[in-house]
Amino acid sequence: MLLTAIERRLGDTMNEDIGTKQALQQHLEMEMFFTGDFAVKGHCPEGEVGGEADEGSDGQDQEARMELENIAKEIGKCCQCGLGESRTNAVPGEGDPNAQLVFVGEAPGADEDAQGRPFVGRAGQLLEKIINAMGLRREDVFICNILKCRPPGNRDPKPDEITKCLPFLQRQLEAIGPEIIVALGAHAAHTLLETKKPIGQLRGRFHQYYTSNDAEPIKFMPTYHPAYLLRNYSPDNRRRVWEDMQKVMAELGLEAPKSGKK
Ligand code: URA
Repeated sequence: MLLTAIERRLGDTMNEDIGTKQALQQHLEMEMFFTGDFAVKGHCPEGEVGGEADEGSDGQDQEARMELENIAKEIGKCCQCGLGESRTNAVPGEGDPNAQLVFVGEAPGADEDAQGRPFVGRAGQLLEKIINAMGLRREDVFICNILKCRPPGNRDPKPDEITKCLPFLQRQLEAIGPEIIVALGAHAAHTLLETKKPIGQLRGRFHQYYTSNDAEPIKFMPTYHPAYLLRNYSPDNRRRVWEDMQKVMAELGLEAPKSGKK
């Protein structure tokens, strides 16, 4: 039904110029992206990003999986900063150990602390819609945070907490070796790019992230945090995030799904 309406609307533009059609296509994609109608659950583009999470036969995949498990165990025991005392669960991160795309947020919130899983609250639901809109499933990517434990009352991470926690993330990124990292929000972007520039200036273009001095740089796209988007749900902000994700998709050779809900 939705598709027919969209096709009709697109068809109506047949006589209009290409630029107008592209703008309409982008607008429709964005609308579906944020209403969830774009989500194609269970769709996995042929081997584009990550593999089946349970394949695990490939040696490199297995090695990354084991390293991520070891890191998660260390995080679970970590009490290097005060957050270890107040947490219910540590939230190491989750996803495909062989993912080509990693999303890095700020820190777990109450829902994540309760479940020990990243991005499972409202912001997580929006993130999942974004991932689905890109033609991917949550399990095709890896999702984690700068901090692995919840700051009380969801306050901002403190510099010493970041300093103590960051090596875990660096090791995770080294183990996974993604092609692209998406930083969700200013904290992730500032921490990993070592800059204080406003997120509005950083987003929208690729930067480079180095896991170690002699490593190949990883393409790094900062964008707005889904929680910020929820609070500032303007068409402009939604378009900006969608444009950022389209750049990521282009780099990974992904196309937005054309069909609606199945
Ligand atoms: N916000 C984050 O930055 N991370 C989460 O895991 C959840 C909400």
